[in-house]
Amino acid sequence: AHQWRGVIREYSDRLPVKEEDRIITLGEGGTPLIHAPALSDLVQGEVYLKVEGMNPTGSFKDRGMTMAITAAVAQGAKAVVCASTGNTSASAAAYATQAGLTCAVLIPAGKIAMGKLSQAVAHGAEIIQIDGNFDGCLEVARKLAENYPVFLVNSVNPSRIEGQKTAAFEVVDFLGEAPDYHLLPVGNAGNITAYWKGYQEYSQPWTNQHTGATVEPVATRTPVMWGFQAAGAAPIVAGHPVTEPETVATAIRIGNPASWEQAEAARDTSGGVIEAVTDEQILSAHRWLSAKEGVFVEPASASGVAGLLKKHAAGEVPAGKRWVITVTGHGLKDPDWAINNPEVVSGGTDYAAPTQVPQDVATVAR
Ligand code: F0G
Repeated sequence: AHQWRGVIREYSDRLPVKEEDRIITLGEGGTPLIHAPALSDLVQGEVYLKVEGMNPTGSFKDRGMTMAITAAVAQGAKAVVCASTGNTSASAAAYATQAGLTCAVLIPAGKIAMGKLSQAVAHGAEIIQIDGNFDGCLEVARKLAENYPVFLVNSVNPSRIEGQKTAAFEVVDFLGEAPDYHLLPVGNAGNITAYWKGYQEYSQPWTNQHTGATVEPVATRTPVMWGFQAAGAAPIVAGHPVTEPETVATAIRIGNPASWEQAEAARDTSGGVIEAVTDEQILSAHRWLSAKEGVFVEPASASGVAGLLKKHAAGEVPAGKRWVITVTGHGLKDPDWAINNPEVVSGGTDYAAPTQVPQDVATVAR
């Protein structure tokens, strides 16, 4: 029987890994691309969700982390470090554990979701809470890696981008062609950079690094890239860093993205946009996904869907197109928002608040 072997083995001819490298993998990638009927109806097109919460630690970070930790081992590192709003730290902690490396994570104090913190604790990471936000954590992590023998596994490490580009490969492999549009959340801007790299590589001839053979392009085109930042943390939209980013979508609470220029290049080369969505729009999309599509995500992960809904309301979504939206992380990472979602609390559309009754069949049946 065949099972998915993780992104390095599945895409070995397109990733910078050597034959002799010890591959650190938890079987990441191969995530479902599912048809979203309610969104498709709304926009009169074909909408698919790339459900990255199905990765081993519950987010897309695992695609990059298999590469980064494999690279750390190849270079003889003993310890890795990252700054994180939660998901990167959960992923780094898990992959470092398999590799037998020490893992230190720098997180903004009080601003990461409990599910993610639990993962870092469970995998035995050295957890350092910093008085400050993600941007400050990343600054410290970079300096640590420059001055001490620790290997940086944030997406400023190119191996992370290499691993994450495989998500674009999977989309094309499944659909048989690139979609018309690809939508996703933007935080530190590594993922939009990675998708764009993947789509570009798949639309050009490729030289197999092992055999030297030239491979024909897999796709005939690249999609238009639409990225969405949270309105309170939207530096690329504003055109300048945001010193005090704030949003309920803590995963993308970032004021000075490391891959800023690459994100702008993806936007401009693809003829796309990077826009802001409000917390209200994010939570409304979060609710849409769970109530109408059966997909449970963490708030930040709903930003791409929030973007589609916003653009549709503005009459900027053409009919008859094929859309792929990445939903980046699992709902169980930050489950409170299912219950504390304002739409739910206000008794919105189709939500039944939990009721408590005596242990009695007749009462329960009612
Ligand atoms: N969605 C989720 C669930 C994330 O965790 C992140 C980033 C993003 C979207 C944005 O992706 O940074 O590549 O633009 N989380 C990082 C972390 C910052 O530390 O876990 P990006």
